[in-house]
Amino acid sequence: MPINIQEMNSSFEIKQIEDFARKNLGSHDGGHDWWHLERVRNNAFQIMEAEGSGDPVIIEIAALLHDIGDSKFKKTGSEDTGKLLHRFLSGLELDERVMHEVIYINRNLSFSNGKRPENVSFEFMIVQDADRLDAMGAIGIARAFNYGGFVNNPIFDPAGKGHSTISHFYDKLLKLKDLMNTEIGIKLAEERHRFLEVYLDQFYHEWEFGNRSEDQL
Ligand code: ADP
Ligand code: NI
Repeated sequence: MPINIQEMNSSFEIKQIEDFARKNLGSHDGGHDWWHLERVRNNAFQIMEAEGSGDPVIIEIAALLHDIGDSKFKKTGSEDTGKLLHRFLSGLELDERVMHEVIYINRNLSFSNGKRPENVSFEFMIVQDADRLDAMGAIGIARAFNYGGFVNNPIFDPAGKGHSTISHFYDKLLKLKDLMNTEIGIKLAEERHRFLEVYLDQFYHEWEFGNRSEDQL
């Protein structure tokens, strides 16, 4: 059987990229672990297939590298991760266009950067939707409480002061549904959004029950 050099190259490159992503994410909170990257890659491929559009090479690399350089996890004095990423990608034999797009997606994807830039590529939209889906639904809730624990935030503050993980639902999670880019992303987000609402209802129900004094029962 003839060997397909192109395929060999790309699977070798993907392996290198996976290793680089693993090495650079390993010590962060559990919501930013390898499995988050794996889910974002798979979410993105599923959106791409259902939409019938998008470059799988850009999507895969951008998904694996989208969280490299997140400012929340930057150690002071550590190498600028933008530079690190650029150096790493330059060492791979990637198409200029692919490299450029992957770096652009890495720099501009995050919710914390506010609204996304106008006129982004379809690959950008897909990877952003894939990342956002992972912040919603049951997994999104798990990641939020995990992050809240990591930075020692309270679960909930009924006085509404300061940052609690429940307040993060309103600051971010419940807004994601209306920020989805692709048609399939919007559809997938609906179910996960409903689950966030069901979860909050039950949370308040239990909170009230647990904080009711005896004479109110
Ligand atoms: P993005 O990838 O859009 O930049 P973040 O890196 O801010 O998103 O968030 C990554 C994960 O951590 C998400 O699941 C998000 O909901 C969660 N997270 C971020 N900030 C908080 C917070 N203050 N409280 C709880 N969870 C948070
Ligand atoms: Ni992410």
